[in-house]
Amino acid sequence: MGLTRVPGLLFGGDYNPEQWSEEVWNQDVRLMAEAGVNAVTVAVFSWSRLETAPGVFDFGWLDRILDLLHAHGIAVDLATATATPPPWLVRRHPELQPVDAAGTRLEFGSRQGYCPSSPVFREATVRLARAMAEHYRDHPALVMWHIGNEYGDHTVECFCEESARDFRRWLQARYGTLEGLNSAWGTSCWGQHYTEWTQLAPPRKAPGPVNPAQVLDWRRFSSDALLACFEAEREVLKEVTPDIPVTTNFMSLLHHLDYWKWAAAEDFVSDDAYPDPADPQAPVKAALSYDLMRSLKQQPWLLLESAPSAVSWRAVNVPKEPGVMRLHSLQAVAHGSDGVMFFQWRQARYGPEKFHSAMLPHGGTDTRQWRETLALGADVRRLAEVAGSTTRAEVALLLDWESWWGLEAPESLPSDRLRLHGLLLSWYAPLHGRGIAVDLAPPDRDLSGYKVVIAPNLYLCTAEQAANLAAFPGRLVVGPFSGVVDAADQVHEGGAPGPLRELLGLRVEEFWPIPDGRTQDVLAQDDPARNSTRLTARTWSEWLELDDAHVLARYRGGPLDGRPAVTRRGTVTYLGCLLDDLTPVLDEVLDAAGVTGVTGAKLPPGVEACRRGDHLFLLNHGAAAATVPLPASGTDLLTGRRLHGSVVIAPRDAVVLKH
Ligand code: GAL
Repeated sequence: MGLTRVPGLLFGGDYNPEQWSEEVWNQDVRLMAEAGVNAVTVAVFSWSRLETAPGVFDFGWLDRILDLLHAHGIAVDLATATATPPPWLVRRHPELQPVDAAGTRLEFGSRQGYCPSSPVFREATVRLARAMAEHYRDHPALVMWHIGNEYGDHTVECFCEESARDFRRWLQARYGTLEGLNSAWGTSCWGQHYTEWTQLAPPRKAPGPVNPAQVLDWRRFSSDALLACFEAEREVLKEVTPDIPVTTNFMSLLHHLDYWKWAAAEDFVSDDAYPDPADPQAPVKAALSYDLMRSLKQQPWLLLESAPSAVSWRAVNVPKEPGVMRLHSLQAVAHGSDGVMFFQWRQARYGPEKFHSAMLPHGGTDTRQWRETLALGADVRRLAEVAGSTTRAEVALLLDWESWWGLEAPESLPSDRLRLHGLLLSWYAPLHGRGIAVDLAPPDRDLSGYKVVIAPNLYLCTAEQAANLAAFPGRLVVGPFSGVVDAADQVHEGGAPGPLRELLGLRVEEFWPIPDGRTQDVLAQDDPARNSTRLTARTWSEWLELDDAHVLARYRGGPLDGRPAVTRRGTVTYLGCLLDDLTPVLDEVLDAAGVTGVTGAKLPPGVEACRRGDHLFLLNHGAAAATVPLPASGTDLLTGRRLHGSVVIAPRDAVVLKH
């Protein structure tokens, strides 16, 4: 079963017919059919063209394009069109434009400018969503709803008075009493004791560092406020069109929104992914966020936007070299996407995205881009049977948004160099290089299905989360600066690792961040003479005092000379520092747990291997041909070749082995 009633994988992109004449529409649908496009996203930014005055709807043009698309066998991911409030609404209600932390109200003239807490905005979006749903409920082209667009893009938060009121309501619901809030926020510090709810405000720009507990609650609130916008529309859609699945396009590993919570409100997860073609680590970063998308609902997801070639919003927008669009698209499918969708179908001639690539470029059909679009469409069709299949991972990386927000709170930590994305990648990259399937998981989920669980960092860790980790029967690895604070960002009594102390068998007496550019030697305890056990710590170290953990590695030289750096208690490993190379720790844990890569053999550099259902995806991101031993014979779905023993994969080529 796919995500929608469209059979096979979805192939298509954002389509903005309102930017083109109806003559061009006819050409578009013909070319879409030629490329094998079976789905397009329509009406994302169409509010001002659909509701031209309060309550005055003009669906005529959208009816015509939906009919035309349907006549050509193209399904529609229909946006509720609420992403950009129209000028008439903004001018009538200037208060719905967002205000930044310094108190400046932002102007109209871009997109996605709205205060998430504005009742006027929310009511207007719900009215439009209802009108759309009632109008299109029986349209045969409609296969999914696309609510808003990239929540958290451009507008992450709003600091206006309306938001302040909403924030107070949210705080009242969380704490009940001012006493509770004062205690959770630690307002005895710096003289912030509140005596009236009306004194509470968003963490606006202040003379110095703002209370980190206030900032943490603000992050929670801001994610919830946007989610409330999504949910208000979702409710109407579910009432009018209960059978049409609902999603909104996520933005990969986004700091601002708690996607565990968001995903629970969607029928399926969809994502917009824009790996930078100029970044050699792009495939690994993309794989990490794709695995997150697959893990959010533990089911297939949809790559709803990606760039056929260059984007237009980086300082330098490098195109994708021949073959890279295909390779990156197949990578998303390998990691669980049930489709390959782009921004956008036809390259714009005006506006901020006129230089953003498209499936059909300015140059038309006699272009490399168009030829690659056609070829990719054919490949996507060859992979139709992959739709709906799932991946089983034995390793999970823990990710918790609240902890992430606490870890990256401004101006209050021993070091601001610990960034969660980098920490996740430091573990993910070597796992990915070994062809090991990885899930992301929140620390409170049942983890018993995994053999290895790694918490790169769990700065904020509650007693319940610690108990969940303690109940995990497999191999657990915990990274530094974990178990430091509780849900209110207050340091656990006795200090780190707080509720993890018994599990790790140690306490952290002092945090010892390492200045930029300096390193700290670390030696594995068992055999200090072996070169392979000389490790390097950077950025972070800790003064550990052990209860009943034993030492796996110690610092050599420096302020912590001879003290424990890496420890073990039972099946739990703790790293008190950030190691440049995690290989020795990882290899040992994976061996002990019996976890191997999906091919069962070492992968050549640059080759990625993923299993999805009965299919083994082998993707060569490297610049040289690679020979990959195959775990079993099978047929390559992309070429129809029968393969045995091993396969040579050209640079930027891929094999999808069915066995
Ligand atoms: C996304 C957005 C699209 C388009 C695209 C360009 O953030 O949802 O509308 O702007 O980026 O890369």
